[in-house]
Amino acid sequence: MSKARTKFVCQNCGMETPAYYGRCPQCGTWGSMVETVEARGPARERRERGMPATRPARLSEVTSAEERRKVVPIGEFNRVLGGGLVPGSLVLLGGDPGVGKSTLLLQVAGLLAPSAGPVVYVSAEESTQQIKLRADRLGITADDLYLLSETNLEAALDAVDPVKPGLLIVDSIQTVYLDDLTSAAGSVSQVRECTARLMQYAKPRHLPVFIVGHVTKEGAIAGPRVLEHMVDAVLYLEGERYHQYRVLRAVKNRFGSTDEVGVFAMTGDGMQEVANPSEAFLQERSPDTHGSAVGVTLEGTRPILVEVQALTSNSAFGLPRRTANGFDNNRLQMLVAVLSKRVGLGLGSQDIYVNIVGGLRIAEPAADLAVVTAIASSYRERPVDPNTVVIGEVGLSGELRSVNQIERRLNEASKLGFARAVVPAPGGRRQLPKVSGIEVIPAASAAEAIEMA
Ligand code: TYD
Ligand code: MG
Repeated sequence: MSKARTKFVCQNCGMETPAYYGRCPQCGTWGSMVETVEARGPARERRERGMPATRPARLSEVTSAEERRKVVPIGEFNRVLGGGLVPGSLVLLGGDPGVGKSTLLLQVAGLLAPSAGPVVYVSAEESTQQIKLRADRLGITADDLYLLSETNLEAALDAVDPVKPGLLIVDSIQTVYLDDLTSAAGSVSQVRECTARLMQYAKPRHLPVFIVGHVTKEGAIAGPRVLEHMVDAVLYLEGERYHQYRVLRAVKNRFGSTDEVGVFAMTGDGMQEVANPSEAFLQERSPDTHGSAVGVTLEGTRPILVEVQALTSNSAFGLPRRTANGFDNNRLQMLVAVLSKRVGLGLGSQDIYVNIVGGLRIAEPAADLAVVTAIASSYRERPVDPNTVVIGEVGLSGELRSVNQIERRLNEASKLGFARAVVPAPGGRRQLPKVSGIEVIPAASAAEAIEMA
């Protein structure tokens, strides 16, 4: 096959040039020119690859992919995928380096190999010996698992082809490259063209592909969103490197919901499913200490109990520090302002640290009250009742706002043995939720809720 021609396209205005410019000659944006493979005509492309021509099909003729989903024998993973792997789908697994992406996918590969047909694990980062070492450690013995260490994507696909795999894993998209492009592996053009090449390879073969992507410093997977719109599903593996727990979250999924999360624990022998995350997150709680409150957050359809810790201490410098781990920093600033102004706590000269135990990241406002309560408890040096959970969003005037699916959350708290719950007072026609085994205490404002807890 002849070398494909490339061109440079401005990502801002779409100007195309045969050579690279540091500044787009048309719109004047700096650093916006990205190298792209010039598309050969689709018909020619197909002929070259010996594929049949396409034709439109009737809706009734198209078989549903639903029945052909490959169920991953890891429940938490399967849930996030929306019920299994869809043939021909490209799934991007992103995450910080060292979070456990390779480990998790190798486990998936090992478990799927016997049922899904051969699985090929292409690594551009590690040698086959290194992967083998890891597989031994994970206790993977599947004979139908093939390992390939290769950075040239075209060469890798040529090598993969005779195996006729049922699943392909490419680790990682930032380290493979296409010969056609002059730019280095990991550049926006390489990452994008490699993904396009994988898509072109996978779709006609109905081959599901996992692509590993490292999150860059800015929090995006190599080049802002260059991949997200190309692949069928984007999963992120989150978690603090030195914490045990990892949360797998779907941020895009063409075949399922994006609300579901899977919880794993990184152990000596790989990633283990955590079937009951609430219990796991509350395991190390020491009741009767100040600055700790338990809230209930909803991850998809699943309520999860989390412990929020806070520490306030006299600030040594003029400008007090506010630091949050697992919680939005701006939201924390806002809650501190509410506590100072509406609840009357003198937090102006206090350093405030907030930590969500277990390395979970919470984006839901329903956890506000837990954060506020933990801070107040630390500041006043009074412990929160260990059998109480607090649920509610805190508004700017210190009012407590209702949250969705309160019954579900209360049920989960009740299951784990909590006896009291402080919840937003129902406004107008809404009734207080009734859940067996748990006393529900309504509060109208954050100040009131803190007193009750
Ligand atoms: P890895 O899967 O290589 O991360 P990524 O591919 O996302 O960069 O995971 C690396 C970390 O996981 C490393 O610090 C060691 C740890 N680990 C375990 O704790 N237990 C295990 O069984 C394995 C294989 C790795
Ligand atoms: Mg890796």
